[in-house]
Amino acid sequence: MSASVMLRCVMEARAVFLVGFMASGKSSVGRELARRLGWDFVDLDTRIESRERQTVPEIFRERGESGFRLAETSALSELLTESLQSHRVVALGGGAFVQDSNRELLRQWPSVFLEAPASELWQRSLTDGIERPLRGNPEQFAQLYAQRLPFYRKASLVVDTAGKPVASICAEIEDALQLKTPGAESDLSRNDSSNFGTGESQ
Ligand code: S3P
Repeated sequence: MSASVMLRCVMEARAVFLVGFMASGKSSVGRELARRLGWDFVDLDTRIESRERQTVPEIFRERGESGFRLAETSALSELLTESLQSHRVVALGGGAFVQDSNRELLRQWPSVFLEAPASELWQRSLTDGIERPLRGNPEQFAQLYAQRLPFYRKASLVVDTAGKPVASICAEIEDALQLKTPGAESDLSRNDSSNFGTGESQ
């Protein structure tokens, strides 16, 4: 991202979207970043579960991955309308940013890819107690991660999180996006067509 585009991004940011693979810390970093900034925190999977009145594994079992993706895009669209009203840090599910339609929805918003090696993510996924329908075995996990990496790397910012504590990851995001710069929370209109999100062509 160029400096001028980054500045625009920062001045107009009302939401930051955290993207990355399963167990990459999107929710824990998101919660802490929101606390530090005094913003709201939203977990898209939690939002999907309350809208659909089913857990993520239940949605996968009953409607398959394609049914889950529809529910995910629909929850994301709703959230983006609300994001016009308050500042928020949003943790997306591991597959959300891989979908072209979702990246298109997010193209005007700053997105942050939390990168870590597949082996570290696999280890974390064993201990966080979350049931993940697409986790598979270590080989399938690493293969899916490799397939998705090119999409995650379209995020506005890539942060290497390997071995880092949550607080230092948050500080890195704040610095890179200048989220604490005076004026960063100014109430500018979001009705422009600037592309500071994924860097993809419009
Ligand atoms: C998914 C990751 C999950 C959840 C769903 C699908 C994926 O979220 O959205 O199980 O496709 O990688 P987390 O990344 O929070 O585990």
